Amino acid sequence: MAAFAPPPGTADVFPAEAGSWRFLENTAAKIFSDYGYGELRTPVFEYTEVFQRGLGGETEVVQKEMYTFEDRGGRSLTLRPEGTAGVMRALTNTDVANGTEQRVFYYGPMFRGERPSAGRRRQFHQIGVENVGRCAPLIDAECIAMLHNYLQAIGIEGARFTINTRGVAADRAPAEAVLREYFAKHIDEMCPDCRTRLERNIWRILDCKQENCGKIIAGAPDYLQHFSAESQAYFEEVKSALTMLGVPFTADSKLVRGLDYYVHTVFEVTHPELGGQIAIAGGGRYELFLPGEKKPLPGVGFATGVERLLMVREALQVPAPETATAGIYLIGLGASARLANLALADKLRRAGIRVDLELEERSFKAQMRSANRCQAAFTLIRGESEMEKHIAIIKNMADGSQCEVAENDLFEHIVNK
Ligand code: HAM
Repeated sequence: MAAFAPPPGTADVFPAEAGSWRFLENTAAKIFSDYGYGELRTPVFEYTEVFQRGLGGETEVVQKEMYTFEDRGGRSLTLRPEGTAGVMRALTNTDVANGTEQRVFYYGPMFRGERPSAGRRRQFHQIGVENVGRCAPLIDAECIAMLHNYLQAIGIEGARFTINTRGVAADRAPAEAVLREYFAKHIDEMCPDCRTRLERNIWRILDCKQENCGKIIAGAPDYLQHFSAESQAYFEEVKSALTMLGVPFTADSKLVRGLDYYVHTVFEVTHPELGGQIAIAGGGRYELFLPGEKKPLPGVGFATGVERLLMVREALQVPAPETATAGIYLIGLGASARLANLALADKLRRAGIRVDLELEERSFKAQMRSANRCQAAFTLIRGESEMEKHIAIIKNMADGSQCEVAENDLFEHIVNK
């Protein structure tokens, strides 16, 4: 390991990669704003109760994965493990509380103390959206279709959408009774986590990835038929709208998602290149109770994991986005030429032209090597004799041709190239 490797589960993003990150963010901003979403930036840490109450005290994330610390006044703070709770906290301070719809998107780092592995980080990055204040099946379908469009726009073909319904709170008791009866019969063959889940949160059993548990889960009764007729109709409407919008999906009643705030529609996206276990995006409809609020706020949204999107793009060999086009390299020999180059560079850069130049005293050969390395389209060369004659040499790096240009015409000449 290198002497100064970043902590496990974190990574540096170097310029060669950062272009892809920016492309994913810019494409998201463009597509999401076409759907009426505006960007919201919230703090990377919040009061701990925002997540405890928002995500549910029984969730794996809240119980095992949060980075929690005390501020100087002894209040408990937590690095955000996801974006939804903080967004909702922020939006309660707007007129969304009075029923006005708000559509926001966000990107940035999230923190979960998970065991690091391929595609699983402790600091990872999400691009997400929340559509808050309304509840309707067509809103859910529109949100899922937007994610589908986004994945296509960033070159990710072949993503698999799985959807399900969580119903509403009143649907759960009858469905839970059916599941409890079934799992209680098999619990001795299931993992210790599932044994605890049977009492504490039976839905989490459906999520268990242990092979043995998987076989038992596969035989679980169809609990959806115990949901109310309204909830079943809601789900049917989401599915037919998705079909109309051309979003291919599979309905799977085993999909429950790891956070407790979901109601009605939930969905997850995987890609065969990463295997079925690792989701590249997930989301759904939710109701969030915030500290001090009596009524929950409804919303629907999703978040994609940027690192995972990049893994899929790499596996699919999607070409990296074009980097800034090559500009001009200024070679200066002697103090006065370097100074003149610095002034010219400043003027050209203000005109939006990429300029590289050497500001230390180095040989002509060394500077020429640098010009080649940065793949400049043109090179400007001037030394003492050119300075005396008030000219500079401009070399076209593609064909090797060169010409002399008067000092006063340099800016115009280069801008017009
Ligand atoms: P989530 O499923 O916990 O949902 O995370 C969303 C996405 O973040 C995952 O599908 C995955 O791509 C990425 N992700 C999660 N954990 C990690 C990790 N440790 N390393 C790398 N990537 C990771 C949420 O966070 C919800 N807030 C989504 C949502 C928004 N639901 C409604 N609105």
